[in-house]
Amino acid sequence: MCGIVGYTGGRQAAPIILDGLGKLEYRGYDSAGIAVSGARGQIDIVKAKGKLKVLDTLTEGGKRLDGLCGIGHTRWATHGEPSENNAHPHCNTEKTIVAVHNGIIENYSPLKEKLVRRGYTFYSDTDTEVATKLVDYYYKKHGDPLKALSEFALHARGSYALAVLFKDYAGEIFAIRKDSPMVVGYTDGGAYLASDVPAILKYTRNIYYTDNQEIVRLSQDGAVFYNLDGEQIEKEYTVISWNAEAAEKGGWEHFMLKEIHEQPEVVSNTLNYYIQDGRADLSELNLSDEYLRGIDSIIITGCGSAYHVGVVAQYIIEDLARIPVRVEIASEFRYRNPVLTGRELVVVISQSGETADSLAALRGVKEHGVKTLALVNVLGSSIAREADSVFYTKAGPEISVATTKAYSAQLVSMYLLALKIAEARGAIDGVYYNKLTSELSALPGKMKEVLENKSAVQKFASEIMDRGDVFFIGRGIDYAVSIESSLKLKEISYIHSEAYAAGELKHGTISLIEEGTLVFGILTQKALAEKTVSNLVETQSRGAYTAVLASESVQCLPKDCKAVFRIPDCDEHFSASLAVITMQLFAYYISVLRGNDVDKPRNLAKSVTVE
Ligand code: AGP
Repeated sequence: MCGIVGYTGGRQAAPIILDGLGKLEYRGYDSAGIAVSGARGQIDIVKAKGKLKVLDTLTEGGKRLDGLCGIGHTRWATHGEPSENNAHPHCNTEKTIVAVHNGIIENYSPLKEKLVRRGYTFYSDTDTEVATKLVDYYYKKHGDPLKALSEFALHARGSYALAVLFKDYAGEIFAIRKDSPMVVGYTDGGAYLASDVPAILKYTRNIYYTDNQEIVRLSQDGAVFYNLDGEQIEKEYTVISWNAEAAEKGGWEHFMLKEIHEQPEVVSNTLNYYIQDGRADLSELNLSDEYLRGIDSIIITGCGSAYHVGVVAQYIIEDLARIPVRVEIASEFRYRNPVLTGRELVVVISQSGETADSLAALRGVKEHGVKTLALVNVLGSSIAREADSVFYTKAGPEISVATTKAYSAQLVSMYLLALKIAEARGAIDGVYYNKLTSELSALPGKMKEVLENKSAVQKFASEIMDRGDVFFIGRGIDYAVSIESSLKLKEISYIHSEAYAAGELKHGTISLIEEGTLVFGILTQKALAEKTVSNLVETQSRGAYTAVLASESVQCLPKDCKAVFRIPDCDEHFSASLAVITMQLFAYYISVLRGNDVDKPRNLAKSVTVE
């Protein structure tokens, strides 16, 4: 999605803004632009199609733009093609009001018609130009930026993080947000705003998370917040504990490779934080044993990989805690009319905590009076703030669009939740509980072992990198790993891939298997391995080129497999944590070999804040 950055203070604004936009590149973009209040009171705007580098070169790293206050934007096209004309910032006719925007103004069409009737003309296809001219209209009516933004909020539908420069208020930035992320930071002598913390972390660790429909006024003296009635509101800031280096590549070729290798540490951090005296201590979540005994079922929802974590968790929670679990794709769940009794616990999983569909699903179930738990990585994000309880994963900043370490941190958090629920409901005895927690403690070491095998994965990747279709099959948790493996491969290698529950293949999909089609079988669940092997053999009979990923002690493998990857044995509930690493590496190496932009795959954005 788009990224916005703003700065006002005692330093030249443009280099700071460009630097911040660079940290938001992972959000995906196709054009970029910047606006700075110049020394003579004018607002200078520079925009460029393509990479941020183009804008950087045009402005000589920002040096060509003097001025101490400005806003910048990286655009991921929604309304109108990627072009310089459609790139942000957008402005009113007189160039006295200039804005950048992340999100979608859903009713931009009727708003535009209304403005046209009042004599406005438009130069771009964007909803942001409409937003800017709507602010202009209300500013001309009230002569007050706060009132203009309040009226904007009353009339605009959709999502927005909108930052505006008013020529009459040189040195100040006014911003408002609804359902699109926006953080504000301050230091002595400067104030910053951005779509995400890494953009400004180099300059400040004191961060305010703006709430929906709050207006913020930034000046050299700091940040002042207002509600839509124009009343000043007090807000507490959060001090970010991780440093700017955590969001840098640190010598790795790609963020994805770095983040894959950070997984043992991330899992270890999560376990160390939440396991106290050998027990899953989830007291921060405020889920009492009495409450957990009283619920009838669990619903897990999320999008993409977060949904896939839910699929793994479904098997584990049902098996250990003996309570029904449903997993729902958030973009579907939000539009259903689900039957809810109020005795469910709804778990919303989201790395960013800003995914529009997951947020909408959360709000939907809250309307039914159902208790919600957010499993989120980004501190202070919308989903974290709106859920009844929050379970923070300890993954640190994840930059690569393809999630790896956040997925692993979510998995291990769900294992802990499963243990907690199982214990509270008396579904698990003490001996087994202790065995499982010691198995969990061994996971980081075993993850390191899997990483050591990466050159074999790289070699196999080079052998199959030109194949057109890849199938991943498995049963139970191995099926859940298959869907994540397939998504990972698709999103960064652009190879068509399907994940199938192994037993479901012959109900139609097996007709797609041709001479040379790669079928990857996942075999970590001993009781199910033989069944999946039979399905692999069926594909071999139709010409498939097969590979397997199996736990060390799984002995039954299909003959004539072209590659066999092993992972250490562990309690089978947790094998997804090991298996997924091989599959992440597999997708990563294919993407590199095909010359793709690994961290910023085409058409994708890290944080999907629009529907
Ligand atoms: C995974 O590699 C994807 N980039 C994507 O599926 C992602 O998991 C999904 O968009 C959900 O994001 P969230 O966890 O931030 O809500």
